[in-house]
Amino acid sequence: MSFDLIVKNANLPDGRTGVDIACRNGRIETVEPGISAQAGDVIEADGNLVSPPFVDSHFHMDATLSLGLPRMNQSGTLLEGIALWGELKEILTVDAVVERALKYCDLAVSQGLLAIRTHVDVCDDRLTGVEGLLEVRDRVRDYIDLQLVAFPQDGLYRSPNAEKNLLKALDMGVDIVGGIPHFERTMEDGAKSVKRLCEIAAERGLMVDMHCDETDDPMSRHIETLAYETQRLGLQSRVAGSHLTSMHSMDNYYVSKLLPLIAEAEVHAIANPLINITLQGRHDTYPKRRGQTRVPELRSYGVNVSFGHDCVMDPWYSMGSADMLEVASMGLHVAQMTSREDIRYCYECVTSHPAKAMNLEDYGLEKGCKADFVLLQARDTIEAIRLKATRLKVVKSGRVIATTPARQTRLALEGRPQSVDPSSYAPNEA
Ligand code: FE2
Repeated sequence: MSFDLIVKNANLPDGRTGVDIACRNGRIETVEPGISAQAGDVIEADGNLVSPPFVDSHFHMDATLSLGLPRMNQSGTLLEGIALWGELKEILTVDAVVERALKYCDLAVSQGLLAIRTHVDVCDDRLTGVEGLLEVRDRVRDYIDLQLVAFPQDGLYRSPNAEKNLLKALDMGVDIVGGIPHFERTMEDGAKSVKRLCEIAAERGLMVDMHCDETDDPMSRHIETLAYETQRLGLQSRVAGSHLTSMHSMDNYYVSKLLPLIAEAEVHAIANPLINITLQGRHDTYPKRRGQTRVPELRSYGVNVSFGHDCVMDPWYSMGSADMLEVASMGLHVAQMTSREDIRYCYECVTSHPAKAMNLEDYGLEKGCKADFVLLQARDTIEAIRLKATRLKVVKSGRVIATTPARQTRLALEGRPQSVDPSSYAPNEA
């Protein structure tokens, strides 16, 4: 029997070590030690980690790589970012959106990031971002699963044509219904927008992913309405609440009521650690709130939690490199999830959990799954996060689509080894 590709001696995220992975026709056929069959291509993993691809369930690809256009965000706040994006929207072209997005997708591939859910602003009457990203979704189809969310950035009711534009974007082929209830003029309008948007999704058989309560206001409780509408309309497991930062500031008693409601409704929670830690708490002196939602508590109720990147070099965030290990690292620091088991969980927050939130088919490293994976210069998921490990090879449909040389530095120190390999520093575990 012969295969297209065999990966030899791999460690897997679930703790299995020294296994081989055999692929044919774009699928994984066998995962077991010591496969002796022939293959068109063989990758020696050498005890390094082979992981399913990274997944980013919350991003803004219409704005990415626009940093400095038309000017920099001076205050660094969410609201100046939204105002700045408003200025940029006026002068946006489809070509510019496509060019920047494709450039970002190249970077994503190099980082082993092969599935992205991006919000796309529908409050521009020309729907420039929608047109651009629909084209990009098509052009990257062979190597990135790109999901588009119709996002009424300026408010479903606050922006005059938002609902009309959102429906048009869905007609054009945008996949998911978005929202921003905390940005509507009043709490009532916010709640009304959640209801209306969930109804649109239910009518059309679509998923929902809302920017929900991205504020430090402990009274911003749209997640409660989102969980309620999800149950009322039978949308369980098809709805995500993105950000949920107000939960950071909420009263503990109220949260003790809210958590089971989110769990019952099977709403996915998506935190965005890099952005939450920089944009929230801006009105605080000291102590400054971190803003990240209550990840360990959501987890304890069985809620599916993901970490998204949200922004890279755009009006809201000047940093970022499509590195979901950086996102996981920030997430675990902010949530103080530092036990070995917690860190492994945070790795899942940038792989299997967002894959579940996005309803990706045949994701994983089991027989029958798509032959999509990443070989990292690290032995396990904890080391991968610690080192922001080099993506040695990125495989899509059983074919290597990106290669990066291993990181190894030559030393010139008397009486010391000649080189240093970051992945050779292991913990002293029994
Ligand atoms: Fe966002």
